[in-house]
Amino acid sequence: MTVSPDDIDITTDLAGLHLATPLVLASGTAMYGREVSGFLDLARDVGAIATKSVLARPWPGLPPARAASTPAGMLNSIGLHGEGIHTLLDEHLPRLAEQGATTIVSIAGHSIGEYARCAEVITAHHQAVDTVEINISCPNVENQNQVFARRPKTAAQVVGAVRAVLPRTRISAKLSPDVADVVEIARACVDAGADALSLVNTVLGAAIHPRTLRPSLSNVYGGLSGPAIKPIAVRCIWQVHQALPHIPILGGGGVRSGQDALDLTAAGACAVSIGTVNFEEPDAALRITVELRSLLAAHGIARYRDAIGIAHRPLEPR
Ligand SMILES: Cc1cc2nc3c(=O)[nH]c(=O)nc-3n(C[C@H](O)[C@H](O)[C@H](O)COP(=O)(O)O)c2cc1C
Repeated sequence: MTVSPDDIDITTDLAGLHLATPLVLASGTAMYGREVSGFLDLARDVGAIATKSVLARPWPGLPPARAASTPAGMLNSIGLHGEGIHTLLDEHLPRLAEQGATTIVSIAGHSIGEYARCAEVITAHHQAVDTVEINISCPNVENQNQVFARRPKTAAQVVGAVRAVLPRTRISAKLSPDVADVVEIARACVDAGADALSLVNTVLGAAIHPRTLRPSLSNVYGGLSGPAIKPIAVRCIWQVHQALPHIPILGGGGVRSGQDALDLTAAGACAVSIGTVNFEEPDAALRITVELRSLLAAHGIARYRDAIGIAHRPLEPR
């Protein structure tokens, strides 16, 4: 079948959240939208923006140095620097709503109680929030800074605590790839009430500064993002889609081209987030969408949705 790139239906949805395009600005890489508003029409050019993860209160984050470049990406240890859930709901969400943006609100916490407090603020606020992404890659200060996302039990406790406060809100749990069995964590989150999963957050890394021969980041460790992690993202999406084929996945990790977006989709993602690429190319979503349309057309796929998980199906004889 011959399809023109302009005629491709690139709409999709994430557990019922309609997205005009499959591309979502990844949490923490376009903050609350202002950084990219001169480059993108948030209502039209992307499917959604996932806002920077917020805690229940403003938080200074970790001390500098908080970022380092690597040959195939970047390391960051921002440590959830941000203005807190109240400012997000009072100031940023109304502005995003005025712009017609579809917004995914990312919340974080240093304890299970703090995640629940964020959810409580959301329920009590007049600003409508229909989709929450829970960033579970946070250290639990009440348990030796163990990252919630690393164990099925603590991952499920966080999701369950948020679900109890937000029974009708769409919830996606954002998983860490730094685990022995990502499917086990995915299952635990779904059993605890997640409607969707976001795969993957950054991969833990470290770098040594060539001049000082000391760690480049004040925290020593940071999250590795960018092209280096794309194969890890594809692997995690593949494994989770294979095990839980009916759970919608927002895929992400190292996407910087239409081919990357299509690869994650073919592995099982029903939408794709773009993160690190936004720092060097704030309007990357435009280029990636054009490339994605052309690739779908070249494969004779008229609807983006038909490419979701296609790599799991046997190749049809020509
Ligand atoms: C500077 C920076 C800040 C980030 N902040 C957050 C955050 O607040 N919450 C979150 O869930 N992920 C955060 N991430 C992770 C991204 O959302 C994304 O999952 C990750 O970078 C992988 O995608 P990429 O390779 O396209 O960047 C951050 C990433 C970067 C580079």
